[in-house]
Amino acid sequence: MHLETQAVHAGRRIDPATGAVTPNLTLSTTFERAADGTLPHGFNYTRLDNPNRRALEQALAALEHGTEALAFASGQAAIAAVLQSLAPGARAIFPDDLYHGTRALVKTTFARWGLVAEFIDCTDLAAVTAALQKPTQLVWLETPSNPRLKITDVAAVALLGRAAGALVVADNTWASPVLMQPLALGAHIAMHSTTKYLGGHSDILGGALVFSADAPSDTIGHIREWQRIGGAVPAPFDCWLLLRSLATLPVRVRAQAATAARLAAWLAAHPKVSRVYYPGLPTHPGHAVSQRQMTGGGAMISFEVHGGFAGAQAAAGRMKLITRATSLGGVESLIEHRKPVEGPDSVTPDNLLRFSVGLEHPDDLIADLAQALG
Ligand SMILES: Cc1ncc(COP(=O)(O)O)c(C=O)c1O
Repeated sequence: MHLETQAVHAGRRIDPATGAVTPNLTLSTTFERAADGTLPHGFNYTRLDNPNRRALEQALAALEHGTEALAFASGQAAIAAVLQSLAPGARAIFPDDLYHGTRALVKTTFARWGLVAEFIDCTDLAAVTAALQKPTQLVWLETPSNPRLKITDVAAVALLGRAAGALVVADNTWASPVLMQPLALGAHIAMHSTTKYLGGHSDILGGALVFSADAPSDTIGHIREWQRIGGAVPAPFDCWLLLRSLATLPVRVRAQAATAARLAAWLAAHPKVSRVYYPGLPTHPGHAVSQRQMTGGGAMISFEVHGGFAGAQAAAGRMKLITRATSLGGVESLIEHRKPVEGPDSVTPDNLLRFSVGLEHPDDLIADLAQALG
């Protein structure tokens, strides 16, 4: 079935007891055993499994064309679950432009557990090949990357990573399964911060991992075990809300991406803007690769303004309709001056503004940008 149909139907069924069309919310943390001690409905304790989480996981697996999905309490919890599955002392490759929270996890907690991490330009296949000369257990991809929208060729890097015997994981948060399906391109795992486009309304924190048919079964086993024993799982209500949000995912993302394409072209022509990072623009260095592996440029734009750090801060400060806030993927447009929020090891340019394009009318967004840029 097509993505739009799966988004509405996967993980859902008419409730046999009541005929309810929308799923029930099962808040119970515990489930009754039969007299013989068995669990007749297959549920035991909500940390282990819950009807709403199971339904969500089925829907996520369908949308990413995976065989199994595991839902987590946040994107960071999902990333940590992958890193937990590696043996101590494992070596891993990460992109040099990467969500700063992922970088922080790698450099703090997991460095203490012996993870050896190398940050490289994953858009450069020669650099990836060179980095894979040493035994490597994990290749982590993030494309488009946060915040500079670098485009990694997922199929090419997955091929290299697999040939080197590494687990290949793609953080698909910024594209969403609407625009890119990393498992079909060769990744073993598609990772999501479901807080972003999948949730889509800035009111759910969550994460997910979706596994390909040939993902190593011991890795899936370790991660499944960690999800249940570690316990960083989403609450039933968050699962219910997220399943509801998935129904509109394709429509939201396509509309947001169409607006973003128009806004990126407008920003690129603005005299106060010195650089636009948007893979849908033909001038973007990853444009050709993005056209091969994505069905649109996405709804995230980063841009640099004249006037350095102060210029970016002032422009963000003048926004009226576009909200100054972190995060992305919601129905409302958000803007963020990244440098001050990324911490001391940030490699993001001082004058970069990260813009999450929402569902407002493009003319209203252009009017706000125009008055704020001056
Ligand atoms: C690309 C990417 N991955 C992971 C995360 C972390 O997700 P969460 O905030 O849900 O833990 C984010 C958050 O911004 C992100 O942008």
